[in-house]
Amino acid sequence: MIQFKEVSKIFGTGKKEVRALDKVSFTVGSGEIFGLLGPNGAGKTTSLRLLSTLLKPTQGQITVAGLDTVKESQEVRNRIGFLSSDMNLTGSLSARELFRFFGDLNHIEEEEIANRSNRLIGQLKMGDFYERKVETYSTGMKQKALIGIALLHDPDIIIFDEPTNGLDIITGRVVLDILKDLKNRGKTLIVSTHIMSIAEKLCDRIGIIHKGTIRIIGTLEEIYEKTGEPDLEEAFFSVIGGVTEDEGYHHRSKKRA
Ligand SMILES: Nc1ncnc2c1ncn2[C@@H]1O[C@H](COP(=O)(O)OP(=O)(O)OP(=O)(O)O)[C@@H](O)[C@H]1O
Ligand SMILES: [Mg+2]
Repeated sequence: MIQFKEVSKIFGTGKKEVRALDKVSFTVGSGEIFGLLGPNGAGKTTSLRLLSTLLKPTQGQITVAGLDTVKESQEVRNRIGFLSSDMNLTGSLSARELFRFFGDLNHIEEEEIANRSNRLIGQLKMGDFYERKVETYSTGMKQKALIGIALLHDPDIIIFDEPTNGLDIITGRVVLDILKDLKNRGKTLIVSTHIMSIAEKLCDRIGIIHKGTIRIIGTLEEIYEKTGEPDLEEAFFSVIGGVTEDEGYHHRSKKRA
């Protein structure tokens, strides 16, 4: 289980101060897929970096399976698989070699690394490019390799920031299928996105975040009921107060255009 308790994150000081998160509280239950939905700059990546122990909250506390992300960061890291939205993969190692490297880092036995790598290569539909240098990969191939790396140690808690960003419809489907399979295997998932259809198709519960605060949280039905809107896109605009300029959120619904 994941718990955010009154979490605030401030970057910079003085005039440059940015309050990226302001007293964010929510819980993700075991075995749940929780979607963090919000426009650009809302605070999704900041939330997931805090959860992944890469950042420390300015105020408040985050726990993962009861473990504090600041005081017990190593134990937390052992339990999570994190896919960053801005990681670039370069170098002359192949995906298979990277899997072996990260498997070693996690003290997984050689044979088990090979088994898991083969399973991931199949699930991720990596064709035969997994033997090629990662620097020769396309965006989608890199994303698949990064997902493999995040999952190799078989974490119970999966934190994916914009997992389908930049992917075509086919690769996007492969990734969604993997996320569903992880849920079926009892994993807890927290996924950020600004794509409505992903949130609708995938998530058990959704939190809409805007300007550093959670504006609404619940199942799709609960969100429709609370907002009185017929679909997630309309609910989203009603919750964030329409199309605003400063967040650079360019997606407009047809009805409003
Ligand atoms: N290291 C940093 N230093 C200063 N400000 C930051 C830093 N990281 C994030 N911010 C600010 O915090 C706010 C939230 O950013 P964040 O990256 O969490 O948004 P996001 O919801 O992931 O957006 P996107 O959809 O564009 O990825 C933004 O105003 C951003 O400029
Ligand atoms: Mg982001």
